[in-house]
Amino acid sequence: MIEKLVKEEIKRVPPYIPGKSIDEIAKAYSLPEEKIIKLASNENPLGASPKAIEAIRTHAAKVNIYPDALAGELRDALSRYVGLPSENILVGNGSDDVMEQCAKVFLSRGDSAIITPPTFSYYKILITMYGSQCIEVPLIEGDAEYAFDAEALLSAATRAKLLFLCSPNNPTGNLIPEALLREILEKEAIVILDEAYAEFAGTSFAHLVKHHENLIVLRTFSKAFGLAGLRVGYCLASEKVIDYLARVRQPFSVNLLAQVAAMAALEDREFLKQSVEIVREGRKYLVEELRKIPGVKAFTSQANFVLFRVEKPGLAEELLKRGIITRGCESFPGLDTRYIRVSVGKPEENRRFIAALREVL
Ligand SMILES: Cc1ncc(COP(=O)(O)O)c(C=O)c1O
Repeated sequence: MIEKLVKEEIKRVPPYIPGKSIDEIAKAYSLPEEKIIKLASNENPLGASPKAIEAIRTHAAKVNIYPDALAGELRDALSRYVGLPSENILVGNGSDDVMEQCAKVFLSRGDSAIITPPTFSYYKILITMYGSQCIEVPLIEGDAEYAFDAEALLSAATRAKLLFLCSPNNPTGNLIPEALLREILEKEAIVILDEAYAEFAGTSFAHLVKHHENLIVLRTFSKAFGLAGLRVGYCLASEKVIDYLARVRQPFSVNLLAQVAAMAALEDREFLKQSVEIVREGRKYLVEELRKIPGVKAFTSQANFVLFRVEKPGLAEELLKRGIITRGCESFPGLDTRYIRVSVGKPEENRRFIAALREVL
């Protein structure tokens, strides 16, 4: 009976598969929680800024009051951080939320939207949820890194209403070349450029929103700022696009504690700097060590994770038995159980991961 009532597009929505949690693995493998390290969800190895935690404590007693619906102060602080006016900024309950507002505004039944697999799975979920057709333009696997298929993308872009581009891309870690992005922006489609990991790459194309009305850049506090559990994301776009997105967002989508913590995190530049440094050093270490192991192919990454491929399928499971949670990539279209994504952890976690990997292989 329910089946008949559910919308057809919702029946087609693929499931979102999150990384495994520490308590789940502790129970499944009878391991003490403190022995487990989680390198599966690209979280910040340093935790969150102490200033952000302090701001949450200070404001905890004010949660009987609604937050600022427009998050004006947070948008002003973001404006100083990204160097764009606050009229070009919209905040949401994580960048996933902002992404959904983009789909709401632009995608209808019968539209087409592009993704570049393997990539972040929520794009396809949204495209399907809004009844649109998903055009897949796969990335090309190179010897040392992945690359966008420029020719195929430019050709598909003329047939699509919207493109989801992720740079650095999750799970492959590669950036989109500026020239290709600029060429795509010349087409009429909306370009959603997901820069969740931009701080680790040290480059962003956010400034291009000043010249391209069809560009929406997504950013988040979940990665370099270490606030994944609070859920704060934002997008940068032309005033016109922001105006439409604002019509469909929930007024209070960013809660009071999230707003004050995000503002405090933006002020703690020292924590941000340390977070980026620990990731860049750990990433270099992981890629170098992975490339020393025979039969392992590690891909160059600009993000806070590294994708690698081994001959032996099912390695992620073997690592789990040793208390190390990585992300087996079989759920990413185009990849299989030989591909594993490991988040950059603290130096000792990275060393433990490499030692365990050597032991298993
Ligand atoms: C590419 C990409 N975009 C967006 C997100 C979600 O970010 P948020 O926590 O801001 O919703 C993730 C999370 O892993 C991601 O990898």
